[in-house]
Amino acid sequence: MDLIEVFDFHKQFGTKVVHSGVNFKVRKGECLGLIGGSGTGKSVLLRSLIGLSRPDQGRILFENRDITGLSESELIEVRRKIAYVFQGGALFDSMTVYENLAYPLRAHTQLGEAEIAEKIKFQLSEFGLQGNEEVYPVNLSGGMQKRVGLARSIIMDPEVILYDEPTAGLDPFNTKRIQEMILQMKAKGRTSILVTHDMPVAFAVCDRIAMLMNGRIEAIGSVDEMEEKSNHLILQFVQGEIR
Ligand SMILES: Nc1ncnc2c1ncn2[C@@H]1O[C@H](COP(=O)(O)OP(=O)(O)OP(=O)(O)O)[C@@H](O)[C@H]1O
Ligand SMILES: [Mg+2]
Repeated sequence: MDLIEVFDFHKQFGTKVVHSGVNFKVRKGECLGLIGGSGTGKSVLLRSLIGLSRPDQGRILFENRDITGLSESELIEVRRKIAYVFQGGALFDSMTVYENLAYPLRAHTQLGEAEIAEKIKFQLSEFGLQGNEEVYPVNLSGGMQKRVGLARSIIMDPEVILYDEPTAGLDPFNTKRIQEMILQMKAKGRTSILVTHDMPVAFAVCDRIAMLMNGRIEAIGSVDEMEEKSNHLILQFVQGEIR
């Protein structure tokens, strides 16, 4: 079953055409890798899937419903099911790590403070962040901010997770940790899109990989097909010959 379907997606900013007819589908339970050079529009595409940006033309179906024309209040429901893990973490600077994680739980669930504390404790230990409850984002390293952002995104147990370069700037140990976490979410049946420049991570966690180039999906296929290097475009991209 296709959970997300993107048809003929067009987007331009001023005279700069970013997308000129993007088409792809995401099946329920799969992890679709989305690769492509910097500025090809990967983040804009992810943001559009939760209505933070709107296509100039085209349709985005989530659970067979077109979300491109939804109002802000209708989008709340979509955003409850689809979590977007921002490229930079997007933490609330004025809140501690604990408050950052508690925020979505207090806003969107009926959980009591004791249950919230329990969930946060569990989530922080999953990400190796225990002991940082009272720290403010400004005092965390970039990699820690990223992990807090991820922890906050999945604490609501969303159906779909859009990961925007979750391992960029992380050391190998933490990259591995994030990789395991993505696999765990997949094992629980969650659907995801992983935007990454880290091909070993993409090969390790994705079922299929799509390549965004020249405003379109120029190639899409199973990880096996891509890994066999049968796809010339992907091979050139991985080897840094094109962007
Ligand atoms: N709100 C906006 N206003 C104007 N231009 C924008 C806006 N958002 C994105 N763009 C432009 O659209 C293009 C695609 O941006 P996007 O952030 O999606 O790229 P990306 O593929 O995610 O790149 P990276 O790999 O560097 O994160 C860029 O040229 C960017 O400058
Ligand atoms: Mg981006």
